[in-house]
Amino acid sequence: MNNRYLPIPPLFFFFFIILHYASCQLPPSQLTTMTNLRELLQTTTNNNSKWNSSSQDLTNPCSWTGVLCNPNNSFITGLSLSSFSLFSIKDASSWSSRVCGIETLETLDVSNNQLAVIAHPLLSSCGGLKVLNFSNNMLSGNIPSFQISLELLDLSHNSLHGVIPDQITELVNLSVLDLSYNQLNGPIPSSIDQLSKLQQLLLSENILSGSIPSEIGHLSKLQQLILSVNNLTGEIPPPIAQITTLKRFSANYNGFTGSIPQGITRYLSNLDLSYNMLTGPVPSDLLSQPNLLTVDLSFTVLYLSTC
Ligand SMILES: *[C@@H]1O[C@H](CO)[C@@H](O)[C@H](O)[C@H]1NC(C)=O
Ligand SMILES: *[C@@H]1O[C@H](CO)[C@@H](O)[C@H](O)[C@H]1NC(C)=O
Ligand SMILES: *[C@@H]1O[C@H](CO)[C@@H](O)[C@H](O)[C@H]1NC(C)=O
Ligand SMILES: *[C@@H]1O[C@H](CO)[C@@H](O)[C@H](O)[C@H]1NC(C)=O
Ligand SMILES: *[C@@H]1O[C@H](CO)[C@@H](O)[C@H](O)[C@H]1NC(C)=O
Ligand SMILES: *[C@@H]1O[C@H](CO)[C@@H](O)[C@H](O)[C@H]1NC(C)=O
Repeated sequence: MNNRYLPIPPLFFFFFIILHYASCQLPPSQLTTMTNLRELLQTTTNNNSKWNSSSQDLTNPCSWTGVLCNPNNSFITGLSLSSFSLFSIKDASSWSSRVCGIETLETLDVSNNQLAVIAHPLLSSCGGLKVLNFSNNMLSGNIPSFQISLELLDLSHNSLHGVIPDQITELVNLSVLDLSYNQLNGPIPSSIDQLSKLQQLLLSENILSGSIPSEIGHLSKLQQLILSVNNLTGEIPPPIAQITTLKRFSANYNGFTGSIPQGITRYLSNLDLSYNMLTGPVPSDLLSQPNLLTVDLSFTVLYLSTC
């Protein structure tokens, strides 16, 4: 048979489907925002920004120093501009409105700069911001009103004046409130117990006066209560001894009087009541509690005897 035309077997083309796992990219709006922010910080900080390096991949802000993104780098979740030489007078609202334009931002750390104001976008319209760290800046004046989504607020090491505003107790999701190392006066708000998720209340090195509100005993998640170096007076409220989560209680360098509450060390690891004007008797079980590591009662108890 002369079969000139052999049936040509169908050609099977094996397509090797290459699954291309392209690295996720930020949405164009966030890339633009970060590019603008980088340029702004370079011009306003005399090119000392940590983002000035030409070795950085300018198309991938998730790789820049202090930029936090979700696991697949598809959006920004946090910015740490700590020690970026930020100063506010001219650029405050400019950089903060850019930052707050990142609608997925949850964390902003601008500690260790020379910022003198907290610009308005950061207070009221900064998306779902949860963590705000303004520690070690040049803030002065009164504590402003913050947006209620905050879970961590650190304003320590500034020059804030005036009283602790009641509005702060509307930030119901706060777990950390650090106002230490300022010049705040007046009382600790008695509505502090509205902050039912509070784990750390740090108020040392101010000129707070009045007594500790006994409502503080309702803070059932509190782990650290630091009131050192203030002008607080009155008795140490016995309900503090009922907070089962409390690990560290420091009230040294104040004007506390009265006796040390029974059972104060039942749950504590560290207790510092030094430099007060407490009177005895010292509770007999003070030193025999299981979790206790340190106790400082130096220069405080005027009448030492055990009951
Ligand atoms: C910062 O550097 C850029 C170029 O890298 C330059 O155009 C700009 O003038 C510099 N800004 C200052 C304030 O020195
Ligand atoms: C970038 O900033 C660092 C300090 O953070 C500075 O030492 C360096 O000179 C800067 N580089 C440029 C190109 O401006
Ligand atoms: C990246 O992660 C986010 C959640 O963090 C998710 O919604 C998105 O679908 C992921 N994208 C890809 C391409 O995996
Ligand atoms: C805020 O920033 C400072 C300095 O970077 C840091 O020491 C502190 O722990 C931060 N505050 C909180 C509550 O994380
Ligand atoms: C507080 O946290 C809860 C649980 O995460 C959340 O549902 C609620 O919206 C938060 N409240 C505010 C005021 O952000
Ligand atoms: C400390 O409190 C006392 C009275 O409780 C008051 O006379 C004094 O002025 C206060 N000191 C400061 C620095 O506020």
